[in-house]
Amino acid sequence: MKLFLDTANIEEIREINRWGVLGGVTTNPSLVAKEADDPERVWKEILTEVEGPISLETTELEPEAMYQQGLDLAQMAPNAVVKVPMTPEGLGVGKRLTDEGIKINVTLVFSPAQAILAAEIGAYIVSPFLGRLDDVASDGMDALRTICDIYEIQGYDTLVLAASLRHPMHIVESALAGADIATMPFAVFKQLVKHPLTDAGLEKFLGDWKALKQELEKGA
Ligand code: G3P
Repeated sequence: MKLFLDTANIEEIREINRWGVLGGVTTNPSLVAKEADDPERVWKEILTEVEGPISLETTELEPEAMYQQGLDLAQMAPNAVVKVPMTPEGLGVGKRLTDEGIKINVTLVFSPAQAILAAEIGAYIVSPFLGRLDDVASDGMDALRTICDIYEIQGYDTLVLAASLRHPMHIVESALAGADIATMPFAVFKQLVKHPLTDAGLEKFLGDWKALKQELEKGA
């Protein structure tokens, strides 16, 4: 399972990229708006910083305008992936873009039925939002498991990207469910690496090492 950052903040992206585990980045209009900068400049910086797929979301609702915007976003860089919403218009435009050889990510997916539609238009990525389902007392992980099972049974090539992840166990359970990608905020990435026993173990190892060095220096 590839690990993506769900952010438009270049400093967060640079920091996680240094870990060597960053497979790609997902952005959405809210995340780009948080940067309070020219969206094109924000996207270009991310597209250059990370080699993997970078999802850039359309904001036009009228099909022709959405299609044109999709074409513009796709030509920004070879690793650009165009996000379209799970709506009748988004599906129609997504199919046109896919037929042109453009990689699309169908976003705002909340049910297995919607995920089937995304696969049927040949989407590169489908993005079920787990956390937002949990927020409304529905089981996001159960929806993800069902989507992964259906995709396996049907032999769909569309990559399942678990989105709206809120804590490390969401990532662990997404991997177990068979998701191809998990995208998460910077804070969750940082939680993934942390373990109190790692910190305590390192402190003990380094303490013992220092004591040995001091002993050897005394004897010299
Ligand atoms: O970018 C899509 C998704 O990951 C948003 O997550 O936390 O805003 O529900 P969240």
